This record gives sequence, structure tokens and C-alpha cells, in this order.
Amino acid sequence: MIYLEKIAMDKTEKIIWDSRFSVGNTKIDDEHKKLIGVVNDLIEFVEFKKDREEFAKILSEMTDYCLTHFKKEENYMKKFAYPDFTKHHTLHTDYIYKVAMYNIELSENIPPDPKEIISFLEKWWTSHIMIVDREYEVYKNKIQSDVIYE
Ligand SMILES: [Fe+2]
Repeated sequence: MIYLEKIAMDKTEKIIWDSRFSVGNTKIDDEHKKLIGVVNDLIEFVEFKKDREEFAKILSEMTDYCLTHFKKEENYMKKFAYPDFTKHHTLHTDYIYKVAMYNIELSENIPPDPKEIISFLEKWWTSHIMIVDREYEVYKNKIQSDVIYE
């Protein structure tokens, strides 16, 4: 958890992928790497540019990708009857709602600070991948399921 404290202190520090992010499944890891890459793009964007519309566009494209990724994860969990499926699905839904609200607010007169959005994204993705996503893979291995992520 030292890592989470570190990003809470410095909100604009890029996320560096290491083994702690791996859920133990290369296909899922690759999708998570792509998502972390977009969070890092947004961090860089805020540091060097100030275009709110472009920021909102990247965030919206990321949401599109998330919807596909969450759907795949949920289909995967369903296939091996993951007992915490509903809890996990709710976390995905809450995330999509939160980011959709940010996108709406970005087009309003008093937009949220992009750094607030980035701080949310960093914390959410770091804890979701390291803790929540890892749990379904641990369960799948425990029951020795041969379900394939696709
Ligand atoms: Fe997930």
C-alpha cells in the first residue's frame, strides 16, 4: 500500500507498470496496460497542455474502451461462476457513472480540475487492478477452472 500513498502525495506522477499490477493473466494484463497508458497520457496532457475539450475527448475514448474491457471481464467471471460477480459488476458500473459525470462537467462553465479527475483515475485503477481484479483470477486458479479470457 506504500505505492498508493505515494500517488496520493504526488497526483501528477505517472503510473509505472510492474509485477504488482499483474493479475496473472497476460491477456488481461495487456488490456490493463493499455488503460494505465491512457491515464499516463492524461497526466502528460495536463502537465503540458490546457485544452479542456481534448482532455474530455481522451477521457471519453477511454470510457469506450473501458466498456469493452469491463464486458469482457464480466463475461469471463460469469463463465467460472465467480461468487463476487455482482460486487465487481457494481464497481465497474460506479466507475462508468463517475467518469460520465466528469465528462458532462467538463463541458460546463465551471469544470472540475483535471488533476482531480486524474487523481480519481490513478487511485481507482491502481486499487482495482492490484486488489479487486486479482481476486477473480486467484479464485479461478483455486477452483482450477480452464476458462479462457477472450
Ligand atoms: Fe474489473
